[in-house]
Amino acid sequence: MLGVRLGVLASGTGSILEATLQAGLPVAVVVTDRDCRALAVAADAGVPTELVERGPLGPGFDRVAFTHRVVDALQRHEVGLVAMAGFMTILEKPMFDAYDGRVLNTHPSLLPAFPGAHAVEEALAAGVKVTGCTVHGATADVDTGPILAQEAVPVLPDDTLATLHERIKTVERRLYPATIREALAGGGR
Ligand code: GRF
Repeated sequence: MLGVRLGVLASGTGSILEATLQAGLPVAVVVTDRDCRALAVAADAGVPTELVERGPLGPGFDRVAFTHRVVDALQRHEVGLVAMAGFMTILEKPMFDAYDGRVLNTHPSLLPAFPGAHAVEEALAAGVKVTGCTVHGATADVDTGPILAQEAVPVLPDDTLATLHERIKTVERRLYPATIREALAGGGR
């Protein structure tokens, strides 16, 4: 792994973080924007955590200042490669200046189809027969950036949001750690 320290950003249940840890990847810190299960997943694995509380979105929310706080947290732990794993706050340019070409994301659709926070709902509503997940290099433009890995899953006639998302996440839990491993082996680039 050539000494590159991996930071994971999460906001939710942290099942992809869990898979990343189970894959034996050297997670140096988990940063979350809220109190969430991902913090407990990290703590149980003995991984340091940083809670950079976002608070409510609204006119008072300073996204650039929040981004700087996230970058500071990552830099405190000397992170060299960042993996977003269900992180639900859009980050601004300072993140991509600090970690240019060294931020990965996993998204639950076959990008460029269905970008944004409601990818699984939108795929269901569109009636597509196939969707999937995409691992890509993240940039300041949400859900764009170079596609590193992609895998399709079927949409079944009786799927709900929960069943379809779980089918996609089952793939993400394998594909994302494998892609992160390759990025670490490449020196974080
Ligand atoms: C994944 O589907 C990821 O693509 C999306 O959020 C989900 C995170 O799942 N951005 P979990 O919190 O790791 O279970």
